[in-house]
Amino acid sequence: MKRILLSAILISFISTTEVLAWGQTGHRVVGQVAENHLTKKARKNIKKLLGSESLAIASAWMDEVKSDDTYDHTHDWHWVTIPEGETYSDTEKNPKGDLVEAIGRMKAILKSDTASREHKVVALRFLVHLVGDLHQPLHVGTGEDKGGNDVKVKWFYQSSNLHRVWDSEIIDSKQLSYTELAEAVDHASADQIKKWQSGTVAEWAQEAITYREQVYETGDTDKMGYRYMYQNWDLLQDQLEKGGIRLAGLLNEIFG
Ligand code: ADE
Ligand code: ZN
Ligand code: ZN
Repeated sequence: MKRILLSAILISFISTTEVLAWGQTGHRVVGQVAENHLTKKARKNIKKLLGSESLAIASAWMDEVKSDDTYDHTHDWHWVTIPEGETYSDTEKNPKGDLVEAIGRMKAILKSDTASREHKVVALRFLVHLVGDLHQPLHVGTGEDKGGNDVKVKWFYQSSNLHRVWDSEIIDSKQLSYTELAEAVDHASADQIKKWQSGTVAEWAQEAITYREQVYETGDTDKMGYRYMYQNWDLLQDQLEKGGIRLAGLLNEIFG
């Protein structure tokens, strides 16, 4: 009986997490790292909008509302397509919006003197989430496989896909809390921070493309697990940290 119950819970868990981006843990790590690098003034102004809600908690909200059809218009904001050999500016733009464009729009709302407080709270939660997504390399897709969602794989003998491996399977396999993982990744030097925070959002999207070759180096897709995790753990940790550091840079610029 216990086993049946466990299976039912597992099945419902798997089917609900399927639609989530960087699982909750990945997003929260990005939020936590950003929180660690805010200026005093930015921290104070963010608190005026979010109250006691931390950036880590705010980060996953955009996925939580995905099933609410009020937010249907935001579905395409989680990703961007940049085909091989192109740059963001070359690409045919998605009329429903995309990750790069949406980040710019959220920044503008947060800087605006006329946007309402409620509008800014939502824009801030979106921004925290989207800068995280930008650092999941498969959220910058080739346009050929829905950011790896169409690449069916077995992860430790369970059905999955390459996108989900990057969103959550690797991170969940490590069994670390978001605070433990944030602490493990957050060690950049002042020099490194400065470098990461420079550049534009479109350039950061372009950078994601440079990891494509490594990300698609899956070996036998029916036997993914320890080897792939080992090959990509450093990159994944760097992306979480970089996402957090860059988010802090944007927030310090907006609110500092
Ligand atoms: N749908 C199409 N491309 C996608 C991507 N890169 N990430 C998530 N969903 C997508
Ligand atoms: Zn997302
Ligand atoms: Zn995702």
